[in-house]
Amino acid sequence: MQKFLIEGGKKLYGEIDVQGAKNSSLPILAGALLCDGTTTLLNCPKLSDVYASCRILNNVGLTCNFIDNNVLTISNSVNNPNCIVPNDLMREMRSSILYMGALLGKYGKCTISLPGGCQLGSRPIDIHLYGLKKLGADIKEEYGTIYCNAKDGLKGTKITLPFASVGATENLILASVLAKGETLIKNSAREPEICDLCNYLRKCGAVIQGDGESDIYIKGVKKLYGCEHSIIPDRVVAVTYMCCVAMTGGELVLNNVCTNHMDIVLNMFEELGCDLYTYEDRIYICSKGRVHSLKNVKTMPYPAFPTDMQSPLMAVMTIGDKTSTFEETIFDNRYRHADELIRMGADIEVMGRIAIVRGVSKLYGTSVSATDLRGGASLIVAGLKADGLTEISNIHYIDRGYQEVEKVLTSVGAYIKRV
Ligand code: EPZ
Repeated sequence: MQKFLIEGGKKLYGEIDVQGAKNSSLPILAGALLCDGTTTLLNCPKLSDVYASCRILNNVGLTCNFIDNNVLTISNSVNNPNCIVPNDLMREMRSSILYMGALLGKYGKCTISLPGGCQLGSRPIDIHLYGLKKLGADIKEEYGTIYCNAKDGLKGTKITLPFASVGATENLILASVLAKGETLIKNSAREPEICDLCNYLRKCGAVIQGDGESDIYIKGVKKLYGCEHSIIPDRVVAVTYMCCVAMTGGELVLNNVCTNHMDIVLNMFEELGCDLYTYEDRIYICSKGRVHSLKNVKTMPYPAFPTDMQSPLMAVMTIGDKTSTFEETIFDNRYRHADELIRMGADIEVMGRIAIVRGVSKLYGTSVSATDLRGGASLIVAGLKADGLTEISNIHYIDRGYQEVEKVLTSVGAYIKRV
């Protein structure tokens, strides 16, 4: 089993080209299934979740190839699609659920099972099922297998989501673009990754309006055709690297970012005491000394502070000059990294959805284990600062979302090795 070894205490200096967004790539890969012909994705990160999506597409009958470093082509010339996604492929990640909407939308049927993904508390799919049923899908569950049918195709309708779920919004967009008639999704999620999915689908011929707002309107079309599309920069990865330098001190330039997607978080780094210069697609960040604690950090749907950035920021707050309070409102169990940070000397008290982080002057390297993707990233952030050697196991979680994180950090002066 692979591990990361980190020797803390090195300041970071240099430039990083931020990878494309995982959480855009995955729904867009499901979108490629809706299209005839070839989709070419530029800036597509090489991640285990992207490879898992390719395996699902291969299983349906499509062909996926990385033809260049981050250029992925997906070709659909399938005559006899296999609409059964096996359990082992479903379990690889949460986003496998998006193939329910995509397969139903394109082929009118699918057989799937419950998706896997990081354990962040209960992650039901009731909103996905509710929306797809409203679009006319007949869905039956037997012994963990979910049978979905829409013999005469899906039909557009009005769907009001009880919660602005990112995945459910994406699933319903995927299901609706080829449905008959018009669909209105009310209380949609507004994340930039949803806009990226819609931008891609529009280039393929879909008629979609309102993405980025709460009401998304879709007019079904008969066919979609593959196109070339560049994946947006990964805002969570960018913030993770900003947390690294806030923690260690030093100066970084982050290229290939979209600062429009990061407004709230950029303000937070200024409150931490970092110097920032931001441009549309570039961030300069300089961190000199001990960071200031942020009083209250509350995770909320976009455009508020994202749950995915909670754990890397918590690692930074462990050495803050005062006390910080976190409130996690999206997932009911997203503090599992806190116990690992405590092993490194952090002072964190978790009470349900609240975590109180009292800043300490030092962290110490020790053996810790990644509990999920972003929790794993928080251990890297902490390890870069800790005295001595930090050994992180279960790094397959980190590989789900960070492309060659050890190479990126080594290039700016960190000591981090994959062993
Ligand atoms: C997406 O997950 C992201 N994943 C997550 O990123 C991110 O943390 C999350 O959105 C919130 O921003 C991808 O885009 C691949 P949700 P998703 O549906 O779609 C509840 C990462 O680290 N809910 O908005 O699963 C659910 O239980 C990952 O990159 C229902 O109750 O998020 C949760 O409490 C982790 N019923 C809340 O909504 C449903 O049917 C938010 O889930 C669906 C969701």
